[in-house]
Amino acid sequence: MIILGIETSCDETSLAVFDTEKGVLSSFTNSQVDLHNKFGGVVPEVASRNHILKVEELFSKCMEQAELTPQDLDMIAVTTAPGLIGALFVGVSFGKALGYALKIPVMPVNHLSAHILAAELENPELRPPYTALIISGGHTHIYDVDAAYNFELLAKTVDDAAGESFDKVAKMMELGYPGGPLIEKLAEGGNEKAVAFPIAMRKENNFSFSGLKTAAMNKINDNTISREDIAASFQRTVADTLILKTLRIAKETGRKNVVVAGGVACNGYIRKAFSEQKGYSVYFPSKKLCTDNGDMIAFAAHRFFKLRKFSSLIETAHDRMQHINK
Ligand code: KG4
Ligand code: ZN
Repeated sequence: MIILGIETSCDETSLAVFDTEKGVLSSFTNSQVDLHNKFGGVVPEVASRNHILKVEELFSKCMEQAELTPQDLDMIAVTTAPGLIGALFVGVSFGKALGYALKIPVMPVNHLSAHILAAELENPELRPPYTALIISGGHTHIYDVDAAYNFELLAKTVDDAAGESFDKVAKMMELGYPGGPLIEKLAEGGNEKAVAFPIAMRKENNFSFSGLKTAAMNKINDNTISREDIAASFQRTVADTLILKTLRIAKETGRKNVVVAGGVACNGYIRKAFSEQKGYSVYFPSKKLCTDNGDMIAFAAHRFFKLRKFSSLIETAHDRMQHINK
């Protein structure tokens, strides 16, 4: 099968063509980071408008690089949830129109499931069951994924997402947006033990990052500790928190394999800290596949298609988590 993946849930327009035998044939992403940077975060209306401006162009580029015509496509896969509603609608409308014109199926794909499955795209030996941690700008979720690809949500953040906390601390330091990579860079020159930030809700599986953000803000205002040391200590505490809770759940559910995915999984410090844990095999998508991309959407559709996990044809965009492809 040849599947077109469409991703427009936030600030990246990304399309890819995935051949179930040959792998990814083409992939193009237009990041809107520069457009949103001056606002210090993603402006939903600006995001939607720019998806509209780019989606057709990226589709043509994908076809050209894959040396295909639209008639060669067998299926369209599109992110339907969760995300910014106007942004999602651009991809969903484009995908549905194309599917209708070509008379081929349109598979709605849950963005979070796709982030997790991205680890399988690059690690062919990886199959569930495993524990999956998804750390992005909007979510911090731990799922148990069983052998039949049932996703059971076992923990989530009660306030800020992990990525959101990086973004907010970076904003307080006036570093720019998105904050994750900027904090990571700043932390390289800092001492991670300089500040002993506590791990919130240590005994519970759910996460809370808003206290850590406030504690970091107080240290920034204090002016007694360098910004490098605050960044390094903050990053270490986020990593310690993620590892503590994810591995505790892996232990409770008897899983030996762990997947760490989503934008924050680009963070080199967090990747290294997870990899050093004994007794577990930890899998990450490559950094390119950790941030939003059409490849993971097409690949997830392939997995769900094989499992006959279809959704209704009247499926549309949802801003919140929808239990599709479960
Ligand atoms: O998955 P993603 O691309 O978009 C969402 O679905 O939210 O994740 C974006 C998030 C942002 O909060 C960004 O700051 C964070 O991922 N991020 C990082 C790094 N690169 C991106 N956080 C920490 N360290 C990084 N190197
Ligand atoms: Zn994402």
